[in-house]
Amino acid sequence: MKKTVNHSLLFARAYEQAEGGKIPRESRPVFHLTPLTGWMNDPNGFCYYHGQYHLFYQYNPYDTEWDAMHWGHAVSHDLLHWTYLPAALAPDAPYDSFGCFSGSAAELPDGRHLLMYTGVRQEGGDKSREFQTQCIAVGDGTDYQKYEKNPVLDSNALPEGLSPYDFRDPKIWRTENGAYRCVVGARREDKRGVLLQYESRDGFEWRYVGVLAENDGRFGLMWECPDFFPLDGKHVLFVSPQDMLPEDFEYHNGNGTVCLTGRMDGDRFVEENNQAIDYGIDFYAPQTILTPDGRRVMIGWMQNWDTCKTTGYEERPWFGQMSLPRELFFRNGRLYQQPVRELAQYRSGKVEYRDVLLDGEKSLEGIEGRVVELDIHLRCADPDTPYQKFIMKFAQNEKYHSVLSYRPYESWLQIDRKFSGSRRAYIHQRRCLVSDQRGEIRLHVILDRFSMEVFINDGEQVMTATILTGSDARKISFEADGQVMMDVTKYSLIEKE
Ligand code: FRU
Repeated sequence: MKKTVNHSLLFARAYEQAEGGKIPRESRPVFHLTPLTGWMNDPNGFCYYHGQYHLFYQYNPYDTEWDAMHWGHAVSHDLLHWTYLPAALAPDAPYDSFGCFSGSAAELPDGRHLLMYTGVRQEGGDKSREFQTQCIAVGDGTDYQKYEKNPVLDSNALPEGLSPYDFRDPKIWRTENGAYRCVVGARREDKRGVLLQYESRDGFEWRYVGVLAENDGRFGLMWECPDFFPLDGKHVLFVSPQDMLPEDFEYHNGNGTVCLTGRMDGDRFVEENNQAIDYGIDFYAPQTILTPDGRRVMIGWMQNWDTCKTTGYEERPWFGQMSLPRELFFRNGRLYQQPVRELAQYRSGKVEYRDVLLDGEKSLEGIEGRVVELDIHLRCADPDTPYQKFIMKFAQNEKYHSVLSYRPYESWLQIDRKFSGSRRAYIHQRRCLVSDQRGEIRLHVILDRFSMEVFINDGEQVMTATILTGSDARKISFEADGQVMMDVTKYSLIEKE
């Protein structure tokens, strides 16, 4: 491949190196990746390549707002501690001058690393005419060259009636016979999302296979960031639909995440089941990989387009975080999630209480902190007298707190960050309908410096939210209306030196 000097990329690399170093480690989360500097959205190119995990991300190094997208880059051995590498892509070719949008990665037979991304160009500065095409860059895990024949998929590769302005987010995978396939999001004139499948022998020349799946109107409009993979004998399709409307307790995020499971009819996916991937406030555009030891691991943007409006007064040197990587599996036909098992090696200072009777407010010695893991098991103190309410306040100081509350009568769990002290948290509450177990519930809570992730009943459901309260707010307290019996185990989570 011809080597070209990419000035925008060199400039971005110099800039991020100078600016990223100025951000103190304590002002970033411990286990959640943030941009080296500036803004981050979707995870891109998540993969295991040449002995380590690579994670790229939608990136504007120059500001904490979304703008001309680059690809930031980090690597890790444990999926939890990330080392920044120089930015991988900058928007500097005629076909991607408006941005290098989301995409994915695969290894070529000769060992080179292939990135497939959406190149966006704007015609005459007109926002409604942003042409989106699929492009390729090839590299060694650090430096990438854009393919001279880019784009590899443009409007000619679109079936009739599909918009060239919404054609993005290729997710590539290797097939059993060594070829490549990818799924790309597209949109019909009626604005509904369609997922298109393409095939390639070598990763460079692509041919249209057909529609993989399409939105029949139940799940929002455009479908962004698809991912398609086998898991536990099922065909699984993840999509992030825009403009979703709530259905009962599901899909309250506007920009949501959906897990579809189904069967294949030739090259077409036929949906049999659906569920939300996350029931919290901040989760979008997840991407999965298969780890070398055979786990399907997902990482998502721990933010949401509806909740990332800037307010002007809250200055932060970075914006946007990734979720914890989560292991996925199916149990009783449902998608379950658990934080990657690598996290267990960073536990320290175990504090454990058994059979604590809660019938008012209580703090427990040693149960506090902002980078902690809590395992909570609740049940009725007296099986014949159900309780009305359980509350856990956390990230708490004299002024601020956030709340996790459970109402067994109504079977919902709620997170509320209204009093977390951040203007950005104006969308502050979500409820999740949990399966009713007569007041018994298990909550596995991971707090990092600026977030909470709650894995409910062994990961049957997950609620994720960013919490921007200052790190001095460390108190955790419990409260009950009625009598609750609680077991709680707490670990501090320790950063690797
Ligand atoms: C999803 C998304 C993608 C797009 C990218 C642009 O969050 O809108 O569809 O490729 O972000 O940054």
